[in-house]
Amino acid sequence: MTIEWNADASEFHLRNGQISYIGRILDNGWAGHLYFGPALTDGRTYAHLGRDGFYGFSNRLGEPIALEYPTGGSGDYRPPALVVEQADGSTVLDLRHRSHRILPGKPAIGLPATYTEVGGEAETLEITLEDPIAALEVQLLYTLYRDRPVVVRSARVVNRGKTPLIVRTAMSASLDVPDAEWQLITLSGEWARERHVERHALRPGKQSVASNRGASSHQQNPFVALVRSTTTEDAGEAIGFSLVYSGNFLAEAEVEPYGTARVRIGINPEAFAWLLDPGAEFQTPEAVLAYSNTGLDDLSAAYHSLYRERLARGAWRDRPRPVVLNNWEATYFDFDEDKLVEIATVARDLGIELFVLDDGWFGHRDDDTTSLGDWQVDRRKLPGGIESVARKVEALGLRFGLWMEPEMISRASQLYADHPDWAVGIPSRPRTESRNQYVLDMSKPEVVDYLFGVLSSVLGSAPISYVKWDMNRTITEPFTTTLPAWRQGEFMHRHILGVYSLYDRLTRAFPGILFESCAGGGGRFDPGLLAFAPQGWTSDDTDAVERLAIQWGTSFAYPLSAMAAHVSAVPNHQTGRITPLATRAAVAFFGVFGYELDPTKLSAEERAEIAGQVAFYKRWRDVFQFGRFHRIRGPLDGDGNEYSWMVVSDDRRAAIAGHFQILSRPNPGPRRIHFRGLDPKLSYRVGIWPDNSTPAGLPPRPLGGDVLMSAGLAIESNRTSALQGDFRARLYVLEAVSPD
Ligand code: DGJ
Repeated sequence: MTIEWNADASEFHLRNGQISYIGRILDNGWAGHLYFGPALTDGRTYAHLGRDGFYGFSNRLGEPIALEYPTGGSGDYRPPALVVEQADGSTVLDLRHRSHRILPGKPAIGLPATYTEVGGEAETLEITLEDPIAALEVQLLYTLYRDRPVVVRSARVVNRGKTPLIVRTAMSASLDVPDAEWQLITLSGEWARERHVERHALRPGKQSVASNRGASSHQQNPFVALVRSTTTEDAGEAIGFSLVYSGNFLAEAEVEPYGTARVRIGINPEAFAWLLDPGAEFQTPEAVLAYSNTGLDDLSAAYHSLYRERLARGAWRDRPRPVVLNNWEATYFDFDEDKLVEIATVARDLGIELFVLDDGWFGHRDDDTTSLGDWQVDRRKLPGGIESVARKVEALGLRFGLWMEPEMISRASQLYADHPDWAVGIPSRPRTESRNQYVLDMSKPEVVDYLFGVLSSVLGSAPISYVKWDMNRTITEPFTTTLPAWRQGEFMHRHILGVYSLYDRLTRAFPGILFESCAGGGGRFDPGLLAFAPQGWTSDDTDAVERLAIQWGTSFAYPLSAMAAHVSAVPNHQTGRITPLATRAAVAFFGVFGYELDPTKLSAEERAEIAGQVAFYKRWRDVFQFGRFHRIRGPLDGDGNEYSWMVVSDDRRAAIAGHFQILSRPNPGPRRIHFRGLDPKLSYRVGIWPDNSTPAGLPPRPLGGDVLMSAGLAIESNRTSALQGDFRARLYVLEAVSPD
């Protein structure tokens, strides 16, 4: 791996065995962009890939100049990466190269970020640009990992002058690509149907996804990808853009009139303005750009391994995650200690490892109208406090986990009575309620201090091994009483910095606790929170059919070790659908597995089936949580009625594939599942879960990995098999047999 700076050609070349990212300081000092794609030979110059020597951008000049961190107002009418308002009110900038340096590793940026752990695994290029008239300095940071097809970018904006500046836009990255023959993939949805894959051809003009809700949101995810129309899972070009941030974001592509495209990603400039005092600096979140010319599977794998190994941190990063049972859909707010211990006792008998007490244990919270902020245990329900129930659960041989929603406040709470000004809102206007609650102003240090104190004492009061950190509404009436009128544009970002500060303090104070993030399900499922909580509640929708689309889309950027997936009761509480218990488990296995139901209400047969599911998951947990995930067939294939995907162990000696059929179709033709990621030279025994039977029609001998991938395996016809009926799943367990 090298970052090469060719002084004669004024060119920089970030190159590892997989990718090259090349730029050049143009004759006028601007940072030009030349190339991002498969690795090119080092030691050569590539200036011919860019344009130079004419910077007028007149409409008659044709091909626009590709730039690293563009600014507006001088003829480049494409979206800018940086807009800074100066003392005279103007926003024109002219950023020219002043210096650069190459640093070993990856410097911390004061925000959640990817990191290095061993020497030599990454290098960072820092390019310093300056505009003397604005007295502005911009440092562009580019980290290249030795073994990953990614470039991690961010920018730092520094006021070197004597008067304040206002940063109105500061993107994390901007990338100019030389043609617009791309499709844009986004992960879009709503509560209970998060991160559905959308894929549409780029068209002239701007197309974007964004959040202005104060969280990354259920509606859009801070991930987009450019792909060719021919790109599939295993072939073709794909460029991913992922933002390590949990607040308002923008990811935008513009196709300009000459048919090139610019993509920018960063904090949403809408309602953002950051006052930069003399000497102050503003650091953007980082964007992770990934490249693949071998399809989406490899693009996702790059994100999975980076986020699992070098974004997630702490004791639980590499540890197998426990199988949990969460009481939310079992009891909602209606429980007492006896009921919880009764549930945990049955859970223990089923092999479950951790019991989670969800919402309703504090204040007087019998429904969602009260008590958020009053983090004192409700002695009516739990007379012995959290400690008593946690110890009883531990005595059963389970670990104990607790739900909390730190960032929220109910109007009906002591906290609100004491500190009405701590709720986000504009003093002269009514606050909009959502789920009967308001958001605490996390930009106030005293709020973060209070929450750290009160939640530390809860977490320190009992043997708590896991925390589910929820966040059930987004921000309205954005405003903070701590900032003057002219600085209100800083609020949304400062709020998220406060959230990060609390996460940082609590995860440091309780390093043994496994934190799971949650936001009404998957409303803040983003890389920013993965830096603190190595897993998140993927969606409130636990319906197996709905989860297919949700987990499929989520897998574009996030590893299975980040995706909590639970089996719930039927009829499903979100959709009313009745699916087989086996199908619910078969979908949830592909994630961090657990249950979300009352096991005391199960029949003896259902309990036996669940005990088998838990044992199966534990047997293959390492593969499910840390193996390589491959998508095979999904919502955009055919009529979207069938899904298949699989995980493969690192040594490729074990794999588990799932095939899911939503509706049963009469008189179907022959179908095959084409496995992926196997070792073509190994032979595999194929068994069908749960009884490890040989698929009908297969010889009882092992089959080669090559034929299983190339020719595939016939999926049994549903005319007579267990696949008959709606919502059926088939799991194939592939185990390599020792070479003869
Ligand atoms: C939303 C979460 O996603 C649910 O799992 C549950 O924890 C509820 N909040 C509790 O209020």
